[in-house]
Amino acid sequence: MNSVSQSIDRVDGKLKVTGQARYSGDHSLPNLCYGYLLQSSIAKGNIQSMDVSAAQHSPGVVAIFTPFNPLKIYSPAQAGEEGAISGDVIPLLQDPAVDYFGQTIGFVVAESFEEARDAARLVKTEYQTQPAIVELQSGLGQAYAPKSVSGMGATVSVLADGVTSIDEALRGAEVLVSATYNSPIEHHNPMEPHATTAIWNGDRLTIYDATQWVQGQQRNLAAVLGIDEANVRVLCPFVGGGFGCKGSMWMHSPLTAAAARVLNRPVKTVLTREQMYTAVGHRPTVRQTVTLGATKQGELTAVKHEAYSSSSRVKFFAEAAAHRTSLALYKSPNIVVTHEIVPLDFAPGTFMRAPGVAPGMFALESAMDELSVKLGVDPVELRLRNYATAEPVHKLPWSSKHLDECYRLGADKFGWSQRRPEPKSTREGDWLVGHGVATALYPAHRSHAEAKIRFQSDGNVSVSAATHDLGTGMYTVLAIVASEALGIPVQRIRPVLGDSGLTLAPVAGGSQSTASVSPAVVAAVDSATKKLISVAVSGAKSPFSGMKPSDVSYANGVLQGGGKAVPFEAVLAALDRSAVEGSGTASPGEEEHQYSFLSFGAQFCEVRVNEWTGEARVTRFTSVMDVGTVVNQKTARSQVIGGIVFGIGMGLLEATKVDPNNGWIANRNLAEYLVPTNADIPHIDVEFLNIPDTKFNSLGVRGIGEIGIAGVPAAIANAIFNATGTRVRDLPITPESLLVEQKGMA
Ligand code: MOS
Repeated sequence: MNSVSQSIDRVDGKLKVTGQARYSGDHSLPNLCYGYLLQSSIAKGNIQSMDVSAAQHSPGVVAIFTPFNPLKIYSPAQAGEEGAISGDVIPLLQDPAVDYFGQTIGFVVAESFEEARDAARLVKTEYQTQPAIVELQSGLGQAYAPKSVSGMGATVSVLADGVTSIDEALRGAEVLVSATYNSPIEHHNPMEPHATTAIWNGDRLTIYDATQWVQGQQRNLAAVLGIDEANVRVLCPFVGGGFGCKGSMWMHSPLTAAAARVLNRPVKTVLTREQMYTAVGHRPTVRQTVTLGATKQGELTAVKHEAYSSSSRVKFFAEAAAHRTSLALYKSPNIVVTHEIVPLDFAPGTFMRAPGVAPGMFALESAMDELSVKLGVDPVELRLRNYATAEPVHKLPWSSKHLDECYRLGADKFGWSQRRPEPKSTREGDWLVGHGVATALYPAHRSHAEAKIRFQSDGNVSVSAATHDLGTGMYTVLAIVASEALGIPVQRIRPVLGDSGLTLAPVAGGSQSTASVSPAVVAAVDSATKKLISVAVSGAKSPFSGMKPSDVSYANGVLQGGGKAVPFEAVLAALDRSAVEGSGTASPGEEEHQYSFLSFGAQFCEVRVNEWTGEARVTRFTSVMDVGTVVNQKTARSQVIGGIVFGIGMGLLEATKVDPNNGWIANRNLAEYLVPTNADIPHIDVEFLNIPDTKFNSLGVRGIGEIGIAGVPAAIANAIFNATGTRVRDLPITPESLLVEQKGMA
C-alpha cells in the first residue's frame, strides 16, 4: 500500500458538506431546555444583589442560577500548580466576587435559547465596584517573575565562559540592535461556538461537548460535578475549529451538566460569539524587547529577549514568547530570555495557535531583519550565518533539521534573488512593493497514546482512539496510517474518534496528535493481526484450523499459510465472528534525552502598500516546511495555509480592544474584530521537504497544526519595511501606523 504522503480527500468531507456531521450544538432531544450565560458588566468588585423576579416570570424560564442560588461546582481535577492547566479553575457562581468583565455570574435555563437570553437581560444586578487594572501598560508596575514559564525558569541564561552577564556580552558587541515589539490580545474565533449538550441517565452523564480533549474534559467534569470518571462520557466527533480555546475546560460545560442534573432534563448551552470573548480564553497581550549583539560579519554574539505578558489575576497563564523562540532558533554564545507576568483584572487567557511562538517569532524575526538592514547583509544570508546545528541551551543535536534547505528552496520558489534590498525601490502605480522573510519553528511534541484496530466481517477495518479532528484532518490521518500498516485501501478503513470511552489519546493541542497516535495505530495493527492469526488457527471452522501461528502470515488484508490465501473477512465469516480486534500503545522513550525535536520552516512574503491610504495587502506567500513525514499532502497543506491565514490576521487585522476605563471588550463580535477573509488572502504556495524524522517516531512524523502561523507576522512586517522604509513594531500593522510615518512624503 502506498497511502502515506499522497494527497487524499478528507474521509469525513462528505458528512460535513452534506450537513450530516453533527456538532455538539446539533443534538435535539425530547424535553431539552437551553442554558444561557449571564456575564458581569464590571471588571472588578462584588455583586451586592441580583433581582431575578422579572426574569423568573419571563416566558419559558425554567430556572435561574446565581451566586445566591448556586449550582454546586467543585474545583477541576487538574487545577493547582501554576500553569498546570488552562481554562477555568475557579468554580463560578459560588461567591459574589467579580474578577473580570464578562465573568459568568448567572446561568438561565429556559424552554428555548431565545427565552433564556431574553430572561437573562431582565436580571437586575447591583455591584459594589472596585478599581481594576485592565491594560498591560497600567499593570507593568505589578509585573512579577513566575515560578515557571513553558516548563523552564522565568529567566533562562546561556552565557559563554568568562561572561558574567548578557549586558556585558551586549556591550562588547560590534553591532547592536534593540527594539520593543507589542502584540495585542487576540481571540481564537473558531467558526463553531462552544456548545454543550448534557444528558443524565441516573447518575451517568453523557455530554456532547465542543472540545479538543474528550478525556481531559471527562476527568475535569467528573471532578467538578463530584462524580466518578467512569460515569462521564464525553462525545465530540466533530469540532468546528479550536485553535486552543477548546483545549481546556471552561465553566459553561459543568454549569450545563449541573443544571441538567438538578432539573432532571437535558440542557444545551451554545455560547454566543460575544460571550466567547471572556468565557473561553484568548491570547494574552505581549510586550517584548529584543536586543541583538553581532559581529560586523553578522554573527550573533549575544541575544537578549525580554517578555511581559498579561495574565488574569485569578488564573495564571504565560504566553511564553521569549522562551519558546530565542532559546531554540539561532546559534549564539550568549542567550538570555526573561519573562514577567503582568496580572490584570481580566478574563483568563489560554493557548492560542502556536502559543508563545507566534508573538515571540514576530519580535525575534523582526529584530533579525533590523539587524540585516543595519549590517547590509541579506536577511536569508544572515539567518544562514547564524544557523544552529545543535539546540542552543542543552546542546542536544536536532533529531532532524533541514531549515537551511527551507530557506534555499523557499528563496528559489519565491524569486528572492529579484528582491531589491533598498526600501521603497519597487513601485507599481500607487502601490509600494516589498519582500520579507522570516523563519518558522514549533516544538515537536509527543505523548503516550493507545489505539485499537478491529477487523470486521464486512471487510472493513475500524481504527479508533480518543483523539480529535478539529478540521485538522485527523480522521483521514488515522485512515491513512491504518491503511499503510494494514495494506488495505483507505476506503476500507473506518476511523472512529472523539469519544472519551475510546483508548487513551492526548489533548489535540501542541501539534502532537499525529505524532502521538499514529505509532499507536501501527502497534495496534501488529497486535490485531496477531490476534487474527491466533483466532484463525484455533477455530475449528477456520481454513487455517490446527496450523501453528508461525505458519500463518498476514499481508494486505489476506491470511496466508499452508498454501492457502484467504481474505480476513472470509476467515471471520467461516468462524462466525463479527470482528477481531487488538490494541497497541506507543510512548516517547529514551530519544527524548538524546535529541531536540522541532519543526522548521521558511516564510516568504510579498506585500503591496498603498502610498496614499497606507493599506497593506499580502500579495504573494511562499512557505517551505520541514515537518517530517507528511502523512497527507492535502490536509497538511490546508493546515499550513490555515496557519498562514491566521498569521496574516495577526499581522494586519486582529486585535481585541479593551476599554481602559471598565475592562469592556469593545469589539467582541466578528463585525469589529477583524479576521482575514477570502479577499485578503493571496495565492499561498506551500511546499514540504517531507524528510522523515525517524528519531522522533517510526513514521517520522512531526506536528503541523501550529507552525504555519510562526514567522508570518514578521515576514509581513519585514516586507512592509522593504516596501515603505517604515518599521512597524506593534501588531496589527494598520493603515494608520503606515500613514503616520509617511506623512512627510505627501
Ligand atoms: Mo493548540 S494552541 O496547542 O490547541
